[in-house]
Amino acid sequence: MFKKVAPYIGEYKKYTIWAVLMMSVGIIANIAPYFFMYQIISPLTRGEHIDASYILLRVVAIAICEIIFSVTYVQGLEFSHISAYNTLKNLRISLQGKLEKQPLGNITELGSGRIKKVFTDDIDQVELLLAHAIPEGIANIAIPAIIIVLMFVFNWRLGLLSLVPLVVGMFAMGMMMKSGMEKMNAYYESAANMNNTIIEYVNGMEVVKVFNKDGDSYKRFGEVVRSYRDFTLDWYKVCWPWMAVYSSVLPCLVLLMLPFGSLMVLSGTITLDKMVLVFCMSFAVGPSVLKALNFAGKFPQLDYKITELEKMMEHPPLKEGTSGFKGNNMDVEFRDVHFSYKDAEVLHGVDLALKQGTTTALVGESGSGKSTLAKLLVHYYDLDSGSITIGGQDITDMSLESLNDQVAFVSQEQFLFNTSLYENILIGKPGATKEEVLDAAARAQCNEFLERFPQGIETQAGDGGKQLSGGERQRISLARAILKNAPIIVLDEATAFMDPENEEKMNAALDEIVKEKTVLVIAHRLSTIKNADKICVMKEGNCIAADTHDKLIDSCDEYRNLWEASVSASTWKVREA
Ligand SMILES: Nc1ncnc2c1ncn2[C@@H]1O[C@H](COP(=O)(O)OP(=O)(O)O)[C@@H](O)[C@H]1O
Ligand SMILES: [Mg+2]
Repeated sequence: MFKKVAPYIGEYKKYTIWAVLMMSVGIIANIAPYFFMYQIISPLTRGEHIDASYILLRVVAIAICEIIFSVTYVQGLEFSHISAYNTLKNLRISLQGKLEKQPLGNITELGSGRIKKVFTDDIDQVELLLAHAIPEGIANIAIPAIIIVLMFVFNWRLGLLSLVPLVVGMFAMGMMMKSGMEKMNAYYESAANMNNTIIEYVNGMEVVKVFNKDGDSYKRFGEVVRSYRDFTLDWYKVCWPWMAVYSSVLPCLVLLMLPFGSLMVLSGTITLDKMVLVFCMSFAVGPSVLKALNFAGKFPQLDYKITELEKMMEHPPLKEGTSGFKGNNMDVEFRDVHFSYKDAEVLHGVDLALKQGTTTALVGESGSGKSTLAKLLVHYYDLDSGSITIGGQDITDMSLESLNDQVAFVSQEQFLFNTSLYENILIGKPGATKEEVLDAAARAQCNEFLERFPQGIETQAGDGGKQLSGGERQRISLARAILKNAPIIVLDEATAFMDPENEEKMNAALDEIVKEKTVLVIAHRLSTIKNADKICVMKEGNCIAADTHDKLIDSCDEYRNLWEASVSASTWKVREA
């Protein structure tokens, strides 16, 4: 586990070392007072006379030791925190670097909740290790170890007696950890399950309410909460007895020393002052050992967290090239594209050529693989096999940046940053002038709703664009793509949420924009792509036909069915209105 964290400590290692050194000084200052106490008590037990100044000197020395202990302890903690928080910073930056290299598709699948958890909660666990467990753990193991050695030096019999409760306590602790470990994975799983269900419950509240699913949903919620309780209690149930043993035995090292020590004093094997000294010292051992063991109990949790964290980032990174765009033109070619999400293959060898300056439409039933094909062109994922080229250059050969310069993608899922709508559009072309941004917004039919907002285009989009309706988000995304003015445009049901009137205007604007460009469009209304240069009919992950509308109507049953369904759907809509 230390090995896992070590690479991220980097230049801050010296702070950890300083922290340990500081705390070691603290340890010595913590033990020294026992000697001064002994020096006071020893002559007293023998009935010898001592001066007030003799006592005062030692009391002052004890006070100084306590001050040194406090100062070094605080200073040690400061150093350990400097090291810890810088390590956390390095860890987060390194994870961010790994995340950036992950296929974009995988990141979306992980979900923002889970990623947030890794970046904040899970990584924060490392703080415990570096800021507390290492320096304090070392101190809390070193103090009792030194004391016990000293006890042996003073009187080996008493030293031995003090070890008995220590061994019993540690055995109980070990037993607790061993039996707890077996339950722990189940416990963590149930905790994760509860978190997921709660997030789902909250996110799905709208659906739950609208469909009157309160009952079902609440039942599931109740189930996971109850199962979490059961797992937790189960875990504690096996731990409690052992916990009771070690927490009562450990602080009481005098348990055996008291009767046997008294006998030894009576029989003259040890002087009273030595026994008192050993007693005093033994009281410092228990709490330290308890503290150290408590840290030890946290290590398995930490191990689990770090393993989870690494597991999440262990997807092979995206095959990203380093060269710029070197294609001869803007022709796009999918060749024998096979692709699977996890295990199930969803594209089974798709061949499709998009000629520069033409529009190609993908049609097919829901789930036939249209969106997947579109996402592959923008390199959200790597292919299983086959290739995608632009102007003859494989997209895995170019950097994501240069690929993104060539392709504008308006996906089905619209994401807006929580900044102004203006800035959201500006992302399409960071250097654009205000006129260009406003022009793009107008072309994407945004003005109609922008005028309704008191702050117009300066309105904040809200978290993920929540302030806007689906259709409005879509139009902002389109404005972004229009502003970008890339030579290849991919539109995945980009107008699906718009009303027919806006869609018509939008399509007119698009017609103008897509001139001379290579366009791949997935339309939910087939009427809008009737005039496409090529229509590719997707079925169950295959492109079963690719031709013009007129030819396909005659030759492809699948297409004719889709067309008829689409036409009847739109007339049905008209009649309904
Ligand atoms: N992120 C994903 N993880 C696993 N399977 C997915 C994912 N996205 C889509 N699929 C599956 O891949 C298939 C094709 O989906 P998709 O490309 O979205 O279809 P379309 O856009 O034609 O409706 C479907 O069977 C769908 O269930
Ligand atoms: Mg789709």
